[in-house]
Amino acid sequence: MKFLDTIEERLLKELNPKVKLVLKTGKYIVESGGKRLRPLFTVLTCGMCGQEPERAVPLGVGLEYIHVASLLHDDVVDGAERRRGKKSANLVFGNGVAVLTGDYMYAKALHLFSTYGNVEMIKLVSQAVMDMAEGQVLEISKVGDIISEEEYFQIIDGKTAVLFGACFGVGALAGSCKNWEKLYEVGLRIGRAFQLIDDALDYEGNPETLGKPVGNDLKEGKCTYPLISVLELLDKEEVKKALRGLSDYETLRQKVIELGGVEKTKERAKKELKMAKEILKGFPENEYKKDILGLIDFVINRNI
Ligand code: IPE
Ligand code: IPE
Ligand code: MG
Ligand code: MG
Ligand code: MG
Repeated sequence: MKFLDTIEERLLKELNPKVKLVLKTGKYIVESGGKRLRPLFTVLTCGMCGQEPERAVPLGVGLEYIHVASLLHDDVVDGAERRRGKKSANLVFGNGVAVLTGDYMYAKALHLFSTYGNVEMIKLVSQAVMDMAEGQVLEISKVGDIISEEEYFQIIDGKTAVLFGACFGVGALAGSCKNWEKLYEVGLRIGRAFQLIDDALDYEGNPETLGKPVGNDLKEGKCTYPLISVLELLDKEEVKKALRGLSDYETLRQKVIELGGVEKTKERAKKELKMAKEILKGFPENEYKKDILGLIDFVINRNI
């Protein structure tokens, strides 16, 4: 993919803390890979809107730092032991170092935005970070409970979709697009689809290719879309027991798969992506748009 090398290079170059352990922890997670979808979408959106895509590289890097910070924090919150095919940073460096390196990276992102961006972008990005924290807290507050579809979307919009929205919004602003709010919505819908697929993969993905464990959501008592989509076919008391760790969650996981919960989740994700593509029809046809459409197809077909 074009721009990927430039993004990778800049991701490492901008990471320059004074304290060695912050650098070590930051490098540990940044160098362990990741799909870099957020910076790619940012840069390509800027190009699609008619400006030099390169001008959005430091902004895309800032958005990837925000993502990485959210992963560092998420793994502490979820007590996760693997990330990007390696031991999670919290396991290697401890919760304290992981959380504080996450803080460093959030602030680093804002620093990049104050250097290369503008006030409108900073508003968008800081709102996204607030929404992400709220989404994660809302999710924690519902652990062990059955939640409605509406609550589910409130959670995933916050913890995941708004950041994709911000990537498209920032890319559009960097591309001098007046209609940037429409592109924010494209990102939001792609982000929703992205988390829906993440939740489907948590039911039946391959932990080797994913680089993180599967089955964790149910194990942690989280009611996600695959379960919600087949809830009417299940005994709710039994579901609650599994979510609260009072019965075997593995049995419920198999049942949700058998009842088609994973397929329904993928269908729901496709619906969001269709709407995203529909909005994109109003934007210029060029090589960058082609790449964006290619990445959208990757989101739905991915197994990594
Ligand atoms: C994982 O995001 C966290 C979610 C929002 C589901 P990615 O799957 O984009 O993680 P990396 O960056 O590729 O590791
Ligand atoms: C993703 O939720 C939320 C953020 C990274 C902010 P998950 O908890 O499902 O993410 P993974 O599955 O650990 O990557
Ligand atoms: Mg997690
Ligand atoms: Mg989580
Ligand atoms: Mg997940």
